Amino acid sequence: MTMIQIGHARDVADNSARRFLIGTHPIAVFRVGDELYAIDDTCSHAEASLSAGEFDADELCVECPLHGSLFDVRSGVPRTLPAFEPVRSYRIWVEDEQLFVDYSA
Ligand code: FES
Repeated sequence: MTMIQIGHARDVADNSARRFLIGTHPIAVFRVGDELYAIDDTCSHAEASLSAGEFDADELCVECPLHGSLFDVRSGVPRTLPAFEPVRSYRIWVEDEQLFVDYSA
């Protein structure tokens, strides 16, 4: 397991998204209460930042700001076209108030 510390737990407000960089690789992190979800930030359809899209905390999906595909933030799987390929999802957890992701290949 490649455990990477990406930020502080309080960096992500409830019912919202935040973009983090692992090197040059952007990751989108979403929070609903104590639950956290992490997926690749770049849409699988074109160059758009999913953390900049509208996050639906009830449906646990985010709408790509460019063409509107809905992505499940738990799995990274698109629920609607035009995107059809998933983005990668990552295990994320909090330890000593720090956010960690499993960045294993
Ligand atoms: S760039 Fe995300 S749906 Fe097209």
